[in-house]
Amino acid sequence: MPGIVTKAIFPVAGMGTRFLPATKAAPKEIMTLVDRPLIQYAIDEARAAGIREFIFVTARGKSALEDYFDRAPELENLLKEKGRDDLLDILQPTNMDSGAIAYIRQNRPLGLGHAVWCARRLIANEPFAVILPDDVIAAEKPCLQQMVEAYETTGGSMVAAMEVPPEHVSAYGVLDVKQDMGAMVSVRGMVEKPAPGSAPSSLAVIGRYILSPHVLDNLNRIGAGAGGEVQLTDAIAEEISSGRDVYGLRFRGQRFDCGSKAGFLRATVAFGLARDDLRDDLSRYLAELGPGRHGAPPG
Ligand code: G1P
Repeated sequence: MPGIVTKAIFPVAGMGTRFLPATKAAPKEIMTLVDRPLIQYAIDEARAAGIREFIFVTARGKSALEDYFDRAPELENLLKEKGRDDLLDILQPTNMDSGAIAYIRQNRPLGLGHAVWCARRLIANEPFAVILPDDVIAAEKPCLQQMVEAYETTGGSMVAAMEVPPEHVSAYGVLDVKQDMGAMVSVRGMVEKPAPGSAPSSLAVIGRYILSPHVLDNLNRIGAGAGGEVQLTDAIAEEISSGRDVYGLRFRGQRFDCGSKAGFLRATVAFGLARDDLRDDLSRYLAELGPGRHGAPPG
């Protein structure tokens, strides 16, 4: 029986240079998709999957994340006095049980694998999840929950997977598929950011992982990989070399790359259209723009 997954690591140390100047004084993860910061989507998804302990790998300049998940007594008292229970309800998901959230600093930007490794002392000998908040996934059943359910029968390690156009594969970790079972594939190998034309498939890793604790030992051993960084993909591939199973799950849902401006804008439109209070207004505006017409630049 695979262990129960109750801990998740959120690598949030990146400087967000692609969104400068917005990220000069505010963490990228606080950027707002409709009315919730990116990190809230990741936390909500983790909670839905049964995660109870949240480990943030942070860096200098990220303290807004700590404040966001802390109590705000003055604000709460004010809202109570004013009888604004509606707003208190909206704040509810930002509350964490005492001790449920931990912050570890990654003191040098050495890559995603290194960021996960920084949290090793908080993961005992148990499977754990990793969520990359840049990857926002709209799904009827949240992606990590789909993975946890599948993992209950497979064990091993599991990554979220999605077919991407061949010209985009070099931006991802890519799976070398051993056996394709439909939604689930078993994996023979994984390559981080393969050179164009050399990718083993067009099935890319998306930022959701359930990992065996052995992956942390692997991170101890491996050196820098693609881009001179310690790659999580390489540490997972090591599992296969050690004879342990790795799976990819083609999740059901739509993934938005909120690490890019175009992806963030698409997500904003999609999540806006999904909201009862915004749908009419937003779709009217989009219809006004019409195909091939452009809105006036603001200001
Ligand atoms: C990271 C991972 C990569 C994965 C991607 C998904 O890359 O290293 O394997 O495919 O996230 O978003 P990054 O986007 O940080 O370069």
